[in-house]
Amino acid sequence: MSIKYTIPRGTFDVLPKDSYKWEMIETKFRHVANRFGYKEIITPIFEHAEVFERSVGDTSDIVQKEMYRFTDRKGRVFALRPEGTAPVIRSYVENNLGQDNSPTKLFYIGPMFRYDRPQAGRSRQFSQYGIECIGSNNPYYDAEVIQLFYIFLKDIGLQNFSVEVNSVGCATCSESYNQALTEYFTPHLEELCGDCKNRINKNPRRLLDCKVHSCKAIAEHAPLMLDYLDEECQNHFAQVQYYLKLMKVPFVVNSRIVRGLDYYTNTAFEFINNNLGAQNALGGGGRYNKLVEQFGGKPTPGIGFAGGLTRLLISMENENLLSDIEPAPTIYFIAVGEEATLLAIDMIGWMRKNFIHVEFFPDKGSLKAQLKNANRLNARLAIIIGEDELKRNVFLQKDLQTGEQIEFNLESFEELYLS
Ligand code: HAM
Repeated sequence: MSIKYTIPRGTFDVLPKDSYKWEMIETKFRHVANRFGYKEIITPIFEHAEVFERSVGDTSDIVQKEMYRFTDRKGRVFALRPEGTAPVIRSYVENNLGQDNSPTKLFYIGPMFRYDRPQAGRSRQFSQYGIECIGSNNPYYDAEVIQLFYIFLKDIGLQNFSVEVNSVGCATCSESYNQALTEYFTPHLEELCGDCKNRINKNPRRLLDCKVHSCKAIAEHAPLMLDYLDEECQNHFAQVQYYLKLMKVPFVVNSRIVRGLDYYTNTAFEFINNNLGAQNALGGGGRYNKLVEQFGGKPTPGIGFAGGLTRLLISMENENLLSDIEPAPTIYFIAVGEEATLLAIDMIGWMRKNFIHVEFFPDKGSLKAQLKNANRLNARLAIIIGEDELKRNVFLQKDLQTGEQIEFNLESFEELYLS
């Protein structure tokens, strides 16, 4: 008896009817990133688990609940990457990428893995596009990173999204904020979930993004980080906003942005599409001025963001931005009879070498069936060679939109399609 296999829960196949959309988005992202001077970096799908535990944070949901950890045959502990920033910083330090140019501007596109409850816009394997700008604390770069994300979304035509920015402060001003949070949450200890009870002393900020309903209700009235920023952090945040205005990137300040990863300092931001339902973040990012040091590098500030590809596709679908972009063949070749088929194979080879998108199916049946198939594929032109055409040394070109038919001499073939 044969067994029928199914795909793992929370994963999906990108089928041919959709893969060209993925390709289109990736190409657009590459173009925008290049325009801003970013170069691609490709890191492995798995890393030593510690790379994430130490940076994303061992009290974060991502590390505690969502990371795919595994042990290899020699007992080493690895993790499928749940995000792209930590691997990029690991590589930046390991390969000494900062020595040539500062800031170092890197972008990446690829699959990430989180064991979370699957729902619309949330899966266990998902693709992220992102950038990291490593080597400067100038608030100009905070704004530039946000501007890149904004221009990318505008380039693909997206309308319904907002840019929300916040500052989560530096290590120094975090101390008084963390203390204020502990003081705020302690009287509610009994109402908190088990995780939050454990986290309150280790990392009270994690209580702000707990997904449990009762914790969320308490967190709603918690003190705001913006009220605890020291002067330097306040100035940095004001500068970021100033540059964003100069760059004509519309934004709102949302002091409730926490981010689910521990490495953030100062600027934190999210791109929100409220039509997406519960999973409404198209992407997010922020500054991580201590991360390079944590990976053993020299103290080096950095900032970046990552967006989710599926959430972008859903948003584009909602705004009808994906309807008519499926690539269609320029030419659908129809040959009737053996001799015509041999000639067709020769001509098609030449066309494909010359960058013309040609479709040819030697065994699709009658002329009628072939034309039907050409229309199904949305081909622009059909080239038809039958016995009659062969005898007269011509081929027939039919415009499949207008129906117009023209006969050409076989000898003029190459000249005709090179222009
Ligand atoms: P993040 O907010 O965890 O940030 O993820 C960024 C985006 O990835 C989310 O806004 C969402 O669009 C997408 N995403 C996250 N989880 C899922 C999921 N389970 N299914 C589908 N899409 C998902 C980071 O990952 C940081 N590394 C961003 C960053 C870069 N910060 C600085 N540099």
